[in-house]
This record gives sequence, structure tokens and C-alpha cells, in this order.
Amino acid sequence: MMLLHRISFILNFNWKARKITLKKVTVPARTRVSVYRRQAWCVFVILQGKSRRRREYLMRIEMAKRIDQIPPYLFAEIDKKKEEMRQKGVDLIDLGIGDPDLPTPKSIIERLKKAAENPRNHRYPSYEGMIEFRTAVAQWYDRRFGVKLNPGTEVLSLIGSKEGIAHIPLAFVNPGDVVLVPSPGYPVYRVSTLFAGGTPYFLPLRKENGFLPSLSEIPETVAKKARLLFINYPNNPTSAIAEKPFFEQVVAFARQYRIIVCHDAAYSEIAFDGYQPLSFLEVEGAKEVGVEFHSLSKTFNMTGWRIGFAVGHSEILGGLGRVKTNIDSGLFQAIQEAGTEALAHLDTPLPEIINIYEKRRDVMVNGLQEIGLEVDRPKATFYLWIQVPKGYTSAQFAALLLDQGGIVATPGNGFGEEGEGYIRMALTIDEKRLKEAIDRLRKIKF
Ligand SMILES: Cc1ncc(COP(=O)(O)O)c(C=O)c1O
Repeated sequence: MMLLHRISFILNFNWKARKITLKKVTVPARTRVSVYRRQAWCVFVILQGKSRRRREYLMRIEMAKRIDQIPPYLFAEIDKKKEEMRQKGVDLIDLGIGDPDLPTPKSIIERLKKAAENPRNHRYPSYEGMIEFRTAVAQWYDRRFGVKLNPGTEVLSLIGSKEGIAHIPLAFVNPGDVVLVPSPGYPVYRVSTLFAGGTPYFLPLRKENGFLPSLSEIPETVAKKARLLFINYPNNPTSAIAEKPFFEQVVAFARQYRIIVCHDAAYSEIAFDGYQPLSFLEVEGAKEVGVEFHSLSKTFNMTGWRIGFAVGHSEILGGLGRVKTNIDSGLFQAIQEAGTEALAHLDTPLPEIINIYEKRRDVMVNGLQEIGLEVDRPKATFYLWIQVPKGYTSAQFAALLLDQGGIVATPGNGFGEEGEGYIRMALTIDEKRLKEAIDRLRKIKF
């Protein structure tokens, strides 16, 4: 029997994959159908006759695996959603990001102005920081925590504490090593671990444990492979605090398994009702196992200035310093001078900041509790960690608040799986707007 073959070609344009598929179809359909895949630029050369420029235009951009494996930065996603709502003309009350709305104290700004005019400060700074700044850090540590530090070897300046947290795994984590990371937790602990090729092992922070990790539940095999342990008290996002017995457990655990402790103390100076958070380094033996990260961001309303520091074990700081010398060129000296002014001359916690957050906290906690939402009155940080009502996921409840009240809150699962069931609100807007947020929340049915 004779088969009739009619051959035709179909061009498929797949813009997303930057590919064009050339299909050769033979009819009847029972016979062979061949598909020739060509690189898109080749077909364009044929179709358009414009070779080089087209080839460049169609070059495929591929991310490194380390970028592909991380989700978009939590707040970048929220920013996108907020922008969409703003475009629609919605008056948003933004409780999403913990970025203080209060100004930096005047004396710090004045010192920056003067320091900026000094040509000595226009040159490359040293990566470890000016000795004047490091001395001010050491003196502040002694005054505030009673901890003695050698400014020459036990203090390192940072371009914000995020920078140090992001870089430290590069110094100590080999591919395949484990890093112990709290969940929920500040997202940078996980991402910096992944960037270094490490494997995060998540330590659940649960209400029944006061949002402290249960170190005894970490399997021995995991503990043996762990190189770093991140902890953070006062805590973001749960606003929990840690007392001495917990830090003592951490030191013992770190000694047993030779794990470097990275304590993130970014919120040590945001505390209420006369409470003064501890430094991890106040605990005996802490300096032999770890470092503590600090920030001037929240303490002095300086998030935009990018100034922080790490203190503690000199060899651990040396490792972080080696990463920094190869990546950044230190912190603008004029900002270091301003930071020196802040640490040397202002008493922390700064009463004028604390009093404002304390009032805001009470307005919000009272309002939320009246509405029937479950939230504790935090002793520290400017965050409220609120349980979502039954029947909602974190994302669903955050979406409900945004859609029906124009209120931006952060879904707890954005801080890790164990954050599911919560949303976080930041007290970084004024009292009047917080009262308005409560009024809007009252009108939402959940
Ligand atoms: C827990 C925690 N650590 C560190 C940082 C980073 O602060 P900075 O880089 O401004 O010092 C933040 C910022 O929000 C934070 O919440």
C-alpha cells in the first residue's frame, strides 16, 4: 500500500525559554513526526539575517545554583505587594518591616557632618575599623554589660550587623557542614549558610519553650557535623528574651561539640519596663566559643547608616575579618566617628526611644487582645508575634488584613516553617496610625 507523505514545517516561538522549535510534520499523522530544536539565535540568523546583534540579545542568562536555591528576600516580595496596593490608591498602614521611623539623635548627625569634612576620612578605611571606634565599643561593653574586651583583637566593625552575619559562614563552613539555624528566624542565617555551601538544620522555636531552641533535641549526628549555631535574643520575630541559664546551656553545648556560637544581639537595647537584656558574653566561657553581633541600627535609629560590630573570640573575628578584607573595604570613617559619638556619649537603652515604643506596644497589645487575637506583651524588641485565628494560615491571614484593612503584616512562615500560625507586626509607625490600625482591624471579620 502506498503512503502519501506531505511534509510541512511549523515554527513554535517560546519566548520564555528563548527558544524556537522547528517542527517538521509529515502527514498522515501516523507517519513519523520529527522535531528539530535549534538554539533561538540560529533561527533568527536564518529568519532575520542579522547575526551578531541578535545573538547577543538572545544570550540566555543563567543564575548560579546558590542563587536558584534561595527564595526571594522576604521583604522584597512584601514591597512588591505593597506597591501594587499603593498603585490602586489604598492608604496602607505598614507594620511589615522593622525599620525605625524615629530620627537619629542630633549629636550623632552633628558629629557626622564634622567628620565628613575631614579629608582624613575620605580615604579607604581599614576593614577592622578605627581604633577609636573599637575602643568606644569596648568601653560601652564594659559599662553596659560588665564585659571586658580588647579593642585591638576582640572588636570588629561591620557595615551593619547583617553584613557580618552574611559573611561569617564563608569563613567557617565547608560544603556539607551543618549550621544550626532557628526557625522562625532572621532569614539571613539560612541564606548565608546556603551561600557557603552549608546545610541549615532548623531549630524550632516554640511558644511552650519560651521560643528558645531545645538543644537537647538536636540529634548527636547533626551536632557532630555542625560548625555554627545562630541564636538571637531579644528575638526577631518572636520578641522572646533569653536569660542566663539558657546562655549557659548554649556554652556547654558549644564546648561539647566544638560549635562556634553566633549570637545576634541587634535588639539588646530595645527593651521595656526597665528590663535590660543580657549579653551572651556575660556568661562564663562564652568568649571561648563565640561572638556576638551588634548593631547601631535599632539602638540609635540608624538603619540607613549601616554600622554595626562583632565582638568576642579573637580567632573567630579574625576569620570573619579575612573574608571582609577580600570583599569590602571597611566602614566610612565619618560614620565610625558618628558611631563613636553615639556609644561614648549616649546612655543605652535610650529612654526617648524606649518610652515611645513602650507606649506603642501597649496601644497595640491592648487593642489586639480586645479584638480577641492572641499576643503576648513583649519585654523587648519592637515586634508583636501574633497567633493567627483558627482556620487561617499565616499567609491567608496576612492577605485578609491587607485586602480588607490595608494593613501590612508579615506572615510568620516567611521566617521559616515554624513561623506558620503567626504574623509579625512591627511598632515602627506612630501611635495615631497604630490606633487607626486597631480601628480597621475591629471591622474585619475573622
Ligand atoms: C535579628 C536581626 N539581626 C540583624 C539585623 C540586621 O541589622 P543591621 O544590618 O541593620 O545591623 C536585623 C535587621 O532587621 C535583625 O532583625
